[in-house]
Amino acid sequence: MLWLNLSWLMILSVGNAELLVTLVNRLHALPVHEKYLKEIRHVHDLLIPLFPSWVFVVIGFFSPGVFLHPISPADVWEGLPVAVQFYFGICFAGFAGFVFSCARHLLHRPPRQQTDFSSRIIDVEKALGRPPLGEGPFQFMTKIPGNECFTVEFNEREFTLDRLPKEWDGLRILHLTDLHFIGTVDLPFFEHVFEGVAKLDYDMICFTGDLLDGDEFSEWIPSTIGRLEAPLGKFFILGNHDWYLDTTPIRDKMTASGWLDMAGRVQILDTMGPPIAIGGDERPWMGRHPNFDASPRELFRLLLSHTPDNFSWARRAGVDLMLTGHNHGGQVVLPVVGPVFSPSIHGVRYAGGLFYSSPTLLYVSRGVGGRHPLRINARPEISIVTLKSAGKTGTS
Ligand SMILES: [Fe+2]
Repeated sequence: MLWLNLSWLMILSVGNAELLVTLVNRLHALPVHEKYLKEIRHVHDLLIPLFPSWVFVVIGFFSPGVFLHPISPADVWEGLPVAVQFYFGICFAGFAGFVFSCARHLLHRPPRQQTDFSSRIIDVEKALGRPPLGEGPFQFMTKIPGNECFTVEFNEREFTLDRLPKEWDGLRILHLTDLHFIGTVDLPFFEHVFEGVAKLDYDMICFTGDLLDGDEFSEWIPSTIGRLEAPLGKFFILGNHDWYLDTTPIRDKMTASGWLDMAGRVQILDTMGPPIAIGGDERPWMGRHPNFDASPRELFRLLLSHTPDNFSWARRAGVDLMLTGHNHGGQVVLPVVGPVFSPSIHGVRYAGGLFYSSPTLLYVSRGVGGRHPLRINARPEISIVTLKSAGKTGTS
């Protein structure tokens, strides 16, 4: 009887934690300012350990005291007030959601559109001979065992796409996202990373937002992302952490470095053959969705969006490939359980990786940084995406 009671109380506690994390993840997907989100996170951090402590102490030792007397779970349930029964019922539903989420994580495989993948890891701490730690907040997190925030995975992905014109076959896109200059991971870290990035071979660069976490860090732009060049252009949008700041000087600094601001607009590119359309989307924080319908439907459509939450809109807009960031791969990925924190209306579903739902291939990069320098099994990531034509469209 003791083990039975212990089990259902454990299930209850996990279900409660799942509900709280689910709620906080979804609140972070909304255009709410960081200062309010911070307060909500504090309550969340408090309630996760408090609830099981209360349940175990009260039900376990006082009323009815299941750890002291042999009482069946059914008898315990009948003795609970209706309001408590109601909340516990919700927690059991939360546990069912948790099991479903674990199964989805374990069963997920990259869609068939990814036809090649390779990666290598650079250890910046080793290369610099010291931890690249600056004066920013949350420094203690960098010392948590297993934290990979001072390393970067450079990966190469090949996506084979039905509607890509043959003339664009082999287009190489450098995808960068979520640099989060905040000062905790210091400037030499980023300068070392971008020195490596500048040597790579790509045709165009797409940056999908969250550049700064403090106005003063715009000084870092010229020696990092600002130093990159690409023959077919450099396209950027901003993210929610940029939205917390004054975005005008950020946009000015990026455009002064030769980057094209894609916020809420569509650019037609015809350098390699038949035109393709590139759009930028900073919704729900800024501006409007880009109007792809102003260009012919037959054009291949590439969307840069900060959040993958615009996936449904992208599918309706006929987007072929959508590059995003924002969720940082979940930042902490637990064995079996999967990603934990993901500021999305879909929770952890699109925390990181590749997803396909016709007609859109969605890529969610883990990005490079984060306000919190914590990366466990969610290593910082920079990708070169090579697009291959499935040979169904084009003039040759
Ligand atoms: Fe971010």
